[in-house]
Amino acid sequence: MLLDAGTQSIETARLLLRRFERGDAKNAFRHWCSDPKVTRYLKWSAHQHLLQTEQTLNYWIKEYRDPCCFHWAVTLKGTGELIGGISLIVKDRFDERAEIGYSFGSAYWGQGYGHEAAEAVLRYGFERVGFNRIEGICAVANLSSARLLEHLGLRREGLHLKMCRLSDGSFTDCYSYGLLAEDYFRSRQ
Ligand SMILES: CC(C)(COP(=O)(O)OP(=O)(O)OC[C@H]1O[C@@H](n2cnc3c(N)ncnc32)[C@H](O)[C@@H]1OP(=O)(O)O)[C@@H](O)C(=O)NCCC(=O)NCCS
Repeated sequence: MLLDAGTQSIETARLLLRRFERGDAKNAFRHWCSDPKVTRYLKWSAHQHLLQTEQTLNYWIKEYRDPCCFHWAVTLKGTGELIGGISLIVKDRFDERAEIGYSFGSAYWGQGYGHEAAEAVLRYGFERVGFNRIEGICAVANLSSARLLEHLGLRREGLHLKMCRLSDGSFTDCYSYGLLAEDYFRSRQ
């Protein structure tokens, strides 16, 4: 059975993952939500106005009332700088199954932050909440996301034709990845 831990802070070597706050909107907009490089392979378009980011954050903040909601703001421990967001979306409570999703400001790519944050969120998902399976879905052209999932130990399980519609309206083939709790715990022995 899932433990309804909600979004609790997580500390890693360089990062503090914490709940979003209303005051984060300006930096979230500036650092990644308004950047078309970030949203290239996402379903949502880069935000044109700060109001869009405020609305997204307000929605997530309201969702924190649900103890099975997991949206973290990713900040640098030293400076408190907000560099991205990472979530676990519950796909099915009965099946104890969630999907990981993330986006980071392009200025922070390639420094291992995505890996560090996602590794901590997988640990939280398996060890604290008790998911049986965590999945990742990415557009086939989204090589950095595919590699990130593979480096994290998720296994590529399928290729799905025209599975997702991107923000430009085009349909893209996607890879699906999955990691089972039993494989996660075995890899840590
Ligand atoms: C996908 C995304 C989150 C990657 O973030 P990032 O911070 O650049 O990723 P990292 O720096 O952690 O990873 C870079 C590389 O180092 C690897 N790596 C980093 N730390 C590692 C570690 N401790 N152990 C093993 N591998 C590690 C990564 O897997 C990756 O491998 P590669 O060299 O084969 O590409 C980022 O590009 C992004 O925000 N993209 C836009 C949004 C998006 O597309 N989201 C995904 C939707 S499916």
